Amino acid sequence: MRIVVTGGAGFIGSALVLRLVADGHDVVTVDALTYAANPASLAPLAGNPRHRLVEADICDAPRMRAVLSEARPDAVMHLAAESHVDRSITGPAAFVRTNVLGTQAMIDAARAWHATLDGEARARFRFLHVSTDEVFGSLGAEGFFTEETRYDPRSPYSASKAASDHLVRAAGETWGLPILISNCSNNYGPRQFPEKLIPLMILNALEGKPLPVYGDGLNVRDWIHVEDHAAALVGILERGAPGHTYCVGARSERTNIQVVRALCAIMDRLHPAGAPHDRLVSFVADRPGHDRRYAIDSTKVETAIGWAPKRSFEQALEDTVAWYLANEGWWRPIREGRYQGERLGLVQAR
Ligand SMILES: NC(=O)c1ccc[n+]([C@@H]2O[C@H](COP(=O)([O-])OP(=O)(O)OC[C@H]3O[C@@H](n4cnc5c(N)ncnc54)[C@H](O)[C@@H]3O)[C@@H](O)[C@H]2O)c1
Repeated sequence: MRIVVTGGAGFIGSALVLRLVADGHDVVTVDALTYAANPASLAPLAGNPRHRLVEADICDAPRMRAVLSEARPDAVMHLAAESHVDRSITGPAAFVRTNVLGTQAMIDAARAWHATLDGEARARFRFLHVSTDEVFGSLGAEGFFTEETRYDPRSPYSASKAASDHLVRAAGETWGLPILISNCSNNYGPRQFPEKLIPLMILNALEGKPLPVYGDGLNVRDWIHVEDHAAALVGILERGAPGHTYCVGARSERTNIQVVRALCAIMDRLHPAGAPHDRLVSFVADRPGHDRRYAIDSTKVETAIGWAPKRSFEQALEDTVAWYLANEGWWRPIREGRYQGERLGLVQAR
């Protein structure tokens, strides 16, 4: 297939693009190369005729139309977004711009391209919107999110992603655009920007800095390795039913403090110089509006798509730590430049 991937220079996007090209697809990555992008993530594709990076903003509607008519895609996989909850607390406007208006610009470009297709090409075309389980809000101690769960976003990030999901679904109903939506849980793995919990903790531990755990550390996330997520997205693209939503998770619920202590134990083994790393754990003021628990029931994607996660959390977490230890060239320029680990997303006390 010829596939346009937006946000392909980001964390999940780059894992997806590397996989698609390895699988033999032709990929055009569209990415504005914001602070969160790292073109080094796509370095393995340098010179590969199956891949091209277009540096462009998804909010630029005429440009997106031009990109699609030039790329002539069989599918658009839409991942470009502002993705960090803490930054959405400090500056929500960028989230509304990219996640809401940018998604509508991608929908409009895909509609215009889809309208030019007929026959088999028209029947084959898909627009896959990659979203988050955070649109469903916060769970108590029991229960799981499913495709039927009512939307209840609580942060500016999740509210903007919820809006984008609604716009994509509306495009399916209104114009017959063959859309698919995935709502996935928290990802981890190589090439994740070190503002997110797992890479931030790894790099702080490596540098002997405090490991800031929000609130009581008992917020629960359902962790999935990025390669398992990428495999689910390929499966949904190939076998998903237009108009359908798929909840993706790996049944790996952990509290934040469990994750941090597991990382410390791995660091003690792989980088004994700083052991014991859990002496660095420091409980700090909670994130405003911090959702308590996310957990996914992924029965639908498992049965309808035939996907299942392949990695265990403990082993894949260790592999992730090993990747950061072995790839200082990827993260060092970020840590010394655009993000040095400072706290984001606190609301000023009056
Ligand atoms: N990380 C997770 O745990 C997770 C879980 C579920 C869903 N998602 C969704 O998956 C997608 C990718 O997440 P990620 O963690 O890889 O994010 P990321 O922040 O690592 O990457 C986002 C990419 O989008 C690009 N981008 C941002 N604004 C853009 C714009 N206006 N035009 C073009 N490109 C732009 C950035 O440059 C970056 O390369 C997002 O839509 C996110 O909501 C993420």
